Amino acid sequence: MTEAYTVIDHSYDVVVVGAGGAGLRATFGLAEKGLKTACVTKVFPTRSHTVAAQGGISAALGNMGPDDWRWHMYDTVKGSDWLGDQDAIEYMVREAAPAIVELEHYGVPFSRTEDGKIYQRPFGGMTTKFGEGPAAQRTCAAADRTGHAMLHTLYQQSLKHDAEFFIEYFAIDLIMDDDGSCRGVLAWNLDDGTLHRFNAKQTVLATGGYGRVFFSATSAHTCTGDGGGMVLRAGLPLQDCEFVQFHPTGIYGAGCLITEGVRGEGGYLTNSEGERFMERYAPSAKDLASRDVVSRSMTMEIREGRGVGAKKDHIHLHLEHLSPAVIHERLPGIEETAKIFAGVDVTKEPIPVIPTCHYNMGGIQTNYHGEVVTLKDGDPNSPVPGLMAAGEAACVSVHGANRLGSNSLLDLVVFGRSVANRCAETVDPTEKTRPLTKDATDAAIDRFDRLRHAKGSTTTAALRGRMQHVMQNNCAVFRTGEVLQEGIDELKKIWADKDDISVSDRGMVWNSDLVETLEFENLIGQAMVTIVGAENRKESRGAQAREDYSERNDKEWMKHTLAWLNEDGTVKLDYRPVTMSPMTNDVQAIPPKARVY
Ligand code: FUM
Repeated sequence: MTEAYTVIDHSYDVVVVGAGGAGLRATFGLAEKGLKTACVTKVFPTRSHTVAAQGGISAALGNMGPDDWRWHMYDTVKGSDWLGDQDAIEYMVREAAPAIVELEHYGVPFSRTEDGKIYQRPFGGMTTKFGEGPAAQRTCAAADRTGHAMLHTLYQQSLKHDAEFFIEYFAIDLIMDDDGSCRGVLAWNLDDGTLHRFNAKQTVLATGGYGRVFFSATSAHTCTGDGGGMVLRAGLPLQDCEFVQFHPTGIYGAGCLITEGVRGEGGYLTNSEGERFMERYAPSAKDLASRDVVSRSMTMEIREGRGVGAKKDHIHLHLEHLSPAVIHERLPGIEETAKIFAGVDVTKEPIPVIPTCHYNMGGIQTNYHGEVVTLKDGDPNSPVPGLMAAGEAACVSVHGANRLGSNSLLDLVVFGRSVANRCAETVDPTEKTRPLTKDATDAAIDRFDRLRHAKGSTTTAALRGRMQHVMQNNCAVFRTGEVLQEGIDELKKIWADKDDISVSDRGMVWNSDLVETLEFENLIGQAMVTIVGAENRKESRGAQAREDYSERNDKEWMKHTLAWLNEDGTVKLDYRPVTMSPMTNDVQAIPPKARVY
């Protein structure tokens, strides 16, 4: 029987879950608009994973040469392999320049050009003149620590405003009404063991991605997709989860990110023959082709026996030809990371790298106001009252089947801000929050209690390790129906073995065993919808490379996948059309064509 817990009730206009770039931008934007706002976060805000973003944030400022938001839009649609929604993409790229100016005024210490403008570097897939011109220098950088600079600045802004922070609180489950609206979130204060019901007119999920379903990921260990997990348990679908980005340059063995900015500054990849093989795969963009293309090319080189190292299982990234001054000024972070995690002096030797899980294009389906929408009674954009999402947790969808590097930091600030603006229009701060019924969180507390007292014989770490290896082996850069099906069968066994899970710490204060178990429940649900979606999609598009269906098939598959998770771990799928029309008449729709770089 569920034991009695101390439960503390709170009432807010808006509760934001997560304090990375999107969560913080939403939080202080909401407070600025006069809304009573709480931000609930499982880690201290400046430890959120945004801190690890390196290379930069895109915006067509034109500081280094001609640029235009329409070119940025074209590149993003092409990068998405025509699965991105063009209205949302237009919204994002148009908002990019004002977003950067705003960040600059907030105090982000961007790197500068000689004449004092924000420094911008080339990044993969970013071009000029609708793909016909040379590479664009569009990615605004604070050396190679742009996420760090942004996150700290956003947190400082948050402190200036009247938002309340609930730090080191783990969000357990959404509080949903019988009519399908969201009424808030139940969270656990890790520090004193109390439970908290946050009753709010709007709940914003800014909980980041779920990269940790894979064994090797650039994501922090905290990237367990807690928002997506809660959404699946609330009976709502996730969108396009089969599209998982593998960053070409994770450090071999350690998985740490080596920014694409290295290639933006002139770095390049070679195989065991010393060949700059990207010239063969992407004759025009070469090492700055989009990430899915570079990751696949590297994997093909390794498979064909041209990998480097004793096992011939990775690739070399060179920057020893760059001047030490450029490295120290623009890439100081990776110089340090390569030294610590690969034992390499980048001024003298290449860095051993391998494609590593980096980003989830899929997530919680939203419109470009950040409102969560779902397929209901035939309407694919039916709102879920009271629920919003932003950042990597969300799928707007601006990245479609493949995100361009530096569009993620942009997504965070643009849609975090958009959430605040929308709430200013829709939430009335003078209206009372409807009280919750006494039993509103009983089911969530029962689940929490069951896991806390789990007495099986398999540790969470063992189950998580099995899941991560299945995803790594069966759902990575190249996929086939057979390998994916084998992965689904294995994941089903792991799902069944959850009944035998063991949690050894029964305490309520800093019980990391229980935190990891709750995180694992979030991860395994998302692993399921990811691999089932990948098996179901019989085509290759963006990050989904099916060897048995090697072509993109617009006739049958230019549509978004919606995936619901049943209680027994099976997955139900449906679809939503891609929005091919832009938001305004200022730009024309970008029709699909072959995607070559
Ligand atoms: O390579 C990088 O610096 C990563 C950037 C991104 O994922 O946007």
